Amino acid sequence: MTQNAFYKLFLKEISDLYSAENQIVEALPKMIEAASTPELKEAFKNHLKETRNQVARLDNIFSQLNEEPSDETCEAMEGLIAEGEEMIEMEAPAMVKDAALIGAAQRIEHYEIAGYGVAKTFATQLELYDIAQLLKETLEEEGSADKKLTSIAEGGFFTAGINKLASEK
Ligand SMILES: [Fe+2]
Repeated sequence: MTQNAFYKLFLKEISDLYSAENQIVEALPKMIEAASTPELKEAFKNHLKETRNQVARLDNIFSQLNEEPSDETCEAMEGLIAEGEEMIEMEAPAMVKDAALIGAAQRIEHYEIAGYGVAKTFATQLELYDIAQLLKETLEEEGSADKKLTSIAEGGFFTAGINKLASEK
């Protein structure tokens, strides 16, 4: 693979992430609305702010490279968000729905963690060190968002009787 082909692959990877992030910006308000646990609502709100900044960070990366994101749609994110929407529409007790929303959100986070991990490694290989650093910042934010969701699930309502509630249904 020539360096040029590898660079094009890198642009494709970050264009995919650009599409994914923009889809998440659209989807998160619905997840904020659907969440019941205040801590979960808050976590989604914070992540919406963070995600808008991640879009801006990608804009910055494209402008540093003198490139434009391609108009390709991240189909994987479309699928993950469609699954999230199924959870939003699900008829279930509030806490069970929150557990479903966390599951959907963590699938989204893990997709992003994979994507940014790949993009950061590619940028380093291409000796685009400043850009690799920017991608690392987003990668770390996605990692923290994922851990936050785990701690809400494990430290909060799962220990506060979600199983009991679910069995009452
Ligand atoms: Fe993100």
